[in-house]
Amino acid sequence: MDNNIIIPKHIGIIMDGNGRWAKKRMLPRNMGHKKGAEVFQDITRYCNELGLESVTFYAFSTENWKRPVEEVNGIMSLLKEYLIKAFDYEKENNRVVFLGDKSAFSGELLELMLDIEEKTKDRKGMTLNIALNYGARNEIVHATKAIAQMVKNGEIAVEDINEELISNNLYTKGQPDPDFILRPSGEKRISNFLLWQIAYSEFVYMDVLWPDFTRKDLDAAIIEFNKRNRRFGGV
Ligand code: FPP
Repeated sequence: MDNNIIIPKHIGIIMDGNGRWAKKRMLPRNMGHKKGAEVFQDITRYCNELGLESVTFYAFSTENWKRPVEEVNGIMSLLKEYLIKAFDYEKENNRVVFLGDKSAFSGELLELMLDIEEKTKDRKGMTLNIALNYGARNEIVHATKAIAQMVKNGEIAVEDINEELISNNLYTKGQPDPDFILRPSGEKRISNFLLWQIAYSEFVYMDVLWPDFTRKDLDAAIIEFNKRNRRFGGV
């Protein structure tokens, strides 16, 4: 990529279009997720190479449980597969963080999530956030309860509640807010993704379906982001 291009610190990615990709090929929807998981791995590596501080992938929302059970099971087994085998977290220098309510998970997947978070917590490379059973409203409720508990315990006063305290009680605590949110597949919705963190983020929508998404598409998104003139409310 051109040397004059500013590489963002944090990109949030809504991996969308897996179902449509499969449908176009008369394949079961889970084949779209399978290809989507391969793209997730490649784009993660590319984000590492580009030197991002954080990248966040929306893998499974609090609403996605409404999908047919075979599809939910298919996504969960892909997750296990990619966390165990394909994503060699032992060799990468990434800190892996799961954003979302973990109480919905149990057994092997939960153990794997906790193990990966623990083993990678001191790593100095890019933070790879995987949003699983994630919903931004749910995240804000979770933070609000934690803060209310601190007030109740007498650890803080109501007057101590400020934006920084709220940010520090979100799943993304300590990370920069996303510079831009990328949504492939032509949809132009935010779908309950990082609502607090995107206050000043740009949105980049692309027509490509996630399973067809390439490193070149990410370059194009970063170039588009560079064309935006961010003023953060100033002039
Ligand atoms: C949205 O496309 C995609 C999902 C709800 C699941 C994303 C999951 C993966 C890519 C696989 C596992 C993830 C990792 C991190 C290994 P859609 O099904 O809503 O597509 P559609 O809008 O075309 O139907």
